[in-house]
Amino acid sequence: MNVLLLGSGGREHAIAWKLAQSPLLTELFIAPGNAGTAQVGTNLPFAATDFEALKFAIIEKNITLVIVGPEDPLVKGVHDFVLADAQLQAQGVKVLGPQQYAATLEGSKEFAKQFMIRNAIPTAAHFTATAENLQESFAFLEQQQSPYVLKADGLAAGKGVLIIPDLETAKQELQAMLQGKFGAASRKVVIEECLHGIEMSVFVLTDGKDYVILPEAKDYKRVGEGDTGLNTGGMGAVSPVPFAGEALMQRIEREIVKPTIDGFHKENIPYCGFVFIGLMVNNGVPKVIEYNVRMGDPETEVVIPRINSDLLQLCHAAATQNLAGQTIDINPQTATTVMLVSGGYPQDYESGKHITITGATAPSLVFHAGTKRENEELSTAGGRVIAVTSLADSKNNALALSYQAISNIHFDAMYFRRDIGFDL
Ligand code: AMP
Ligand code: GLY
Repeated sequence: MNVLLLGSGGREHAIAWKLAQSPLLTELFIAPGNAGTAQVGTNLPFAATDFEALKFAIIEKNITLVIVGPEDPLVKGVHDFVLADAQLQAQGVKVLGPQQYAATLEGSKEFAKQFMIRNAIPTAAHFTATAENLQESFAFLEQQQSPYVLKADGLAAGKGVLIIPDLETAKQELQAMLQGKFGAASRKVVIEECLHGIEMSVFVLTDGKDYVILPEAKDYKRVGEGDTGLNTGGMGAVSPVPFAGEALMQRIEREIVKPTIDGFHKENIPYCGFVFIGLMVNNGVPKVIEYNVRMGDPETEVVIPRINSDLLQLCHAAATQNLAGQTIDINPQTATTVMLVSGGYPQDYESGKHITITGATAPSLVFHAGTKRENEELSTAGGRVIAVTSLADSKNNALALSYQAISNIHFDAMYFRRDIGFDL
């Protein structure tokens, strides 16, 4: 079959790399892709949210499956767009990724909270603040222990969560958010009980009724070593998560994964695709911090290389409501990935820096995140540039391979964390 993958990051290179190995694949297209995806498929030069260009490509390239990488096209309704188009329906094209209503699970924190409450899924206590209920919102804040967790209800480019030590500042920030600090996204603010413990992420592929659980992962969000400095999209990741033994994973499936998928089914939430469940685990007790309606980045760069099964077969089964009875074969080795970023990221940084690879990077996998190739020249095209993934029998051996490969990759002002996985 001909497949079109939407997106342009390290996540998409890892997915494309895996899809390209499937005997079910005829041709793989990626829109817009990067210099890495161009090594395993054909890049098409349109944005992941350009639905008219998407329609044209589906028809011209005779695509039968569209796989959506990032949340943006999903929240904007790409799946609904394809379903509503008679010409595309006649061609039989399927989309892997939830419909717009289901994508609200990521697009609105309040929607996600209400879904969890209705389905008895463990999560932090919360109160939804609006300009109309300020006094009750302050009263809820006063009942909480420091630090205070404030979340813009809508998508705020990953910046909408504030964790504030002091009550008075929290009240001021709450008012600022309600007055539009994050635009329309913070017209509503979800105030949450602060959870303590260790974070990890679980990934599920579902057709809305049945599911398979992918390898779990832990990512490193802060830019600085020792988890210091600003939050980023992710500076590295490890899979499996050493503290997530069989008992914890079974509890997560029983208390969180199954009720989530059953909730989609019971409530007619049209969900086929990946579910990313962000968890806080405290003394073996998991609670949901958030749902994302896509895979994580850079978690995908460690999750996908551990899947032995045919990813395209699983994606096609999920997109055609045929996941029942499907199983997934997972490599027990440890995968680590270290993200190479442009100096200055996540704030201002320069793009267009020439990238050179001066020695062997094998057996590591070099997944491009923000790169482009022009006239045979590879250069940086984003804050997160390259994720270097390795697989080995231990976390330390995998990390040693990643850092060895990195010593052969160079670009001006390249920065990476040297302590990925050290706390595990
Ligand atoms: P989110 O955008 O919901 O993933 O939140 C961003 C980050 O804020 C999470 O990865 C956590 O580190 C932290 N966080 C979110 N909610 C809570 C909470 N209720 N308690 C403690 N930390 C939280
Ligand atoms: N690495 C976190 C995310 O993809 O949201």
